[in-house]
Amino acid sequence: MSERHDFYRHIHKGLRLGGARLLLRLGRADWAQPAASAELLADLRGHLVLARKHLEHEDAEINIIIRTKALDLGLRLDHDHADHFAAFGRLEVAIRATEQADGPAREGAGHRLYLAFSRHLGEDLLHMAREEEEAMPVFQARHDDGELQAIENRIKSAIPLDELVAYFRLMLAGCGPAERVALMADIRAGAPPEVYAIVEAQAARVALDEGEWDELQAGLDQRPVAA
Ligand SMILES: [Fe+2]
Repeated sequence: MSERHDFYRHIHKGLRLGGARLLLRLGRADWAQPAASAELLADLRGHLVLARKHLEHEDAEINIIIRTKALDLGLRLDHDHADHFAAFGRLEVAIRATEQADGPAREGAGHRLYLAFSRHLGEDLLHMAREEEEAMPVFQARHDDGELQAIENRIKSAIPLDELVAYFRLMLAGCGPAERVALMADIRAGAPPEVYAIVEAQAARVALDEGEWDELQAGLDQRPVAA
């Protein structure tokens, strides 16, 4: 694990996993079965909502800071985000076109949606790597880990609980064992016990298999619980 705090790391791993899973499902979809593909389209819409809100969190708490420290990089990230917002609009149009198509036309519409999502995911992968490889060092050079953690905590504490659970499902499934322990230890230390219990029951229990769950609990047992 990186020695310095990195507030992009876990959420980006979760979003990469969510996007990759959807790309696979879109490629394998049976568009001739409207009921089966309706669930996939609903899951895609849900993912795009999380992706949009993630960009809004970054705009409000992170990109506003990076523009004051590295203007060219800040403008580049703003440009990436604007492209993403435009892509979300195009993807919603492609989702509706698939829903409304009948018969053989549905296969074509589904494939166009698959291609549009593959293009968006490719651009998002490049964008997130830019944030981690170029923006994070700027923050780390100018802020200590406590300040970086405070930025992350400010973002997390403003997220509604159902949305937080959805992000944790992705992050826990997309991260390695030590990262999962760090994620759950942070929320155990920083959130009310009832919030921790809901994240544990609705995210960790759902996202992890039995072995991963046991490993997480063993890791958390090794961590002191904050007073
Ligand atoms: Fe971003």
